[in-house]
Amino acid sequence: MVLFKKKDDIQRFIAQLRQKNNKIGFVPTMGALHEGHISLVRAAREKCTIVVCSIFVNPTQFNDKKDLEKYPRTIEQDIALLIKNECDIIFCPEVAELYPDGTEQQPHFELGPVEFILEGKYRPGHFQGVATVVSKLFSIVKPDEVFFGQKDLQQTKVIERLIKNTPAFGSIHLNIVPTLRTESMLALSSRNTRLTTEQLTIAPVIYETLRFLKQHLAKGDLSPVIERATAMLEHRGLKTDYVTIADKETLEAVKEWDGHTKLAGLVAAFLGEVRLIDNLILTD
Ligand code: PAJ
Repeated sequence: MVLFKKKDDIQRFIAQLRQKNNKIGFVPTMGALHEGHISLVRAAREKCTIVVCSIFVNPTQFNDKKDLEKYPRTIEQDIALLIKNECDIIFCPEVAELYPDGTEQQPHFELGPVEFILEGKYRPGHFQGVATVVSKLFSIVKPDEVFFGQKDLQQTKVIERLIKNTPAFGSIHLNIVPTLRTESMLALSSRNTRLTTEQLTIAPVIYETLRFLKQHLAKGDLSPVIERATAMLEHRGLKTDYVTIADKETLEAVKEWDGHTKLAGLVAAFLGEVRLIDNLILTD
């Protein structure tokens, strides 16, 4: 394993590997790594000859400063976990390395309507920040294959758009890896470490709610099933930002279902101070 902190160094190193016909797989992360992240590393390992993983808590995607401060940082543990899982190259730059001119003024990315719905509505500027950092990382690593989790379904749509809109990223192939869950079906997340033991027993209600949406899906008006699902969460003390049934491709809310449109269910809710998100594809 080789670890880099400077973009010029990693760029030079990967350029040499590319000349030797390696297939470069890239897994961007913000650290506090868990088995969900590792499932991305494994998917990259299977498909590529070189696996690169970045660890960078990106300030520009946090609309809430406190959330940024509270974000768990476990760099030494992360590195050990990546070594154990045969990651070849780790990139963990300082903020100034990726943002030499500061984090205030950033170029604007055209991401389409998906930028402003769901997470985009509750976390203004979040996806501009994601696009900014991912664009910088893609330009440095120049990967053949990139790996993102379905856990952040909306983020995968933003990355799809970023790749489509950027000629230099045209040859990058996006891989979406299924959400890894605990036995109780709670989606693994770095934020779970902030939940109390009691909250950890409540949090699986999010997945139960998504299953409920899937089981009670029927043609026509979807608002009654959404109301019941919302009540399930609030009954257990969660405060919902959204419970939505959406077009699986565009993530636009579907109010009346024609029985054909492919659907996804998406939830964002606070359990205490911790904001959790999850989603489930509702139709095959
Ligand atoms: P982070 O939250 O660290 O997640 C890194 C990658 O791991 C994302 O693609 C995310 O979807 C995936 N992931 C998280 N939990 C998962 C789970 N339970 N199962 C499968 N995959 C999971 O997403 C980000 O970082 C950032 O926005 C980033 C893309 C790195 C840009 O800063």
